[in-house]
Amino acid sequence: MTEDKQTGVQALQWTGHSLKVLDQRQLPDNINYDEYNDARGVADAIASMRVRGAPAIGIAAAYGVALSIKQHYSPDNVLWRQEIDRDIDALAHSRPTAVNLFWALGRMKAVLADEPENPIEAALACAGQIHADDIAANRTMGELGADILTDFNVKGILTHCNTGALATGGYGTALGVIRSMVARKPGIQVYAGETRPWLQGQRLTVWELAQDNIPVTLIADSAAAWLMKSGAIDWIIVGADRVAMNGDTANKIGTYGLAVLAKRHGVKVMVVTPTSTIDRNLMNGELIEIEQRQQSELLPNCYNDNPCVSAWNPVFDVTPAELISVIVTEKGCVMNPSATGLRELFND
Ligand code: MRU
Repeated sequence: MTEDKQTGVQALQWTGHSLKVLDQRQLPDNINYDEYNDARGVADAIASMRVRGAPAIGIAAAYGVALSIKQHYSPDNVLWRQEIDRDIDALAHSRPTAVNLFWALGRMKAVLADEPENPIEAALACAGQIHADDIAANRTMGELGADILTDFNVKGILTHCNTGALATGGYGTALGVIRSMVARKPGIQVYAGETRPWLQGQRLTVWELAQDNIPVTLIADSAAAWLMKSGAIDWIIVGADRVAMNGDTANKIGTYGLAVLAKRHGVKVMVVTPTSTIDRNLMNGELIEIEQRQQSELLPNCYNDNPCVSAWNPVFDVTPAELISVIVTEKGCVMNPSATGLRELFND
């Protein structure tokens, strides 16, 4: 598989004319890239979770818009803007919680609004920039986060979901900090929660770290409290799908529970996230739409047609800012996050 040793495996590859998406549903058993030539295909790749993770969703959507412009733009086609708008709408409806999706679509719409001479070139340049900026942000956050962990003399870390190269343009957010920290202190203990029901931790994080020879210990999600009680970890490090302007953070289901347990056990919580994941229109986390996915992701097949049995499957939860020790972004770190700290980050 194509891979950049600096930034880890590649979830997304722009070929010059199409987008290749590593099908994360098949990992770690199969390494298979699907190739997309239109925005509708990319929207389906996001909705079906071939590509997942907030930053990677945003990057894929940006390339999706570029593909749409490539497909529909022609000075002779008077309907090209309407056709692209329909594709942007399809991309916007692929998944609701990760704000990077809407942020990236906003950036691509702004390119078109500028009426560039060559819309195809301008859109491709913007999508490529979003991709490159994400990798650069992850690198910066990796070092900033590792600085904090070094100051606190970290010994053990628990992470949740997958926040690595697979979930981003490359390197990763929370997993980027872990990469940077392991490079500084190779003996550090890294634990990954399996992350039910989709098993991003067990299938993706463990695989991704193993690809880079970073030792990792898998735990069942239900072992987290006992792990904290044992004293083995002093930090939980996670990513985010949408951060409100008071620091409340939506992330993979189970993050809130981990943060509550962390408070009980004196463990600190670090959220690592690029500013593209901060929703500047949302005052608090109660306003974040939480995606509910199909019951079939939880229920065994035998209950498919049984009216007595159902499943409740929210795939994100919101951790209140008061349970978060620090939010690390590429613009800097917000200790004990609050509305004031978040506003300062943007110089508002
Ligand atoms: O449902 P997923 O796999 O898209 O959820 C991903 C997460 O919750 C990640 O923690 C988050 O997107 C941050 S990834 C850098």
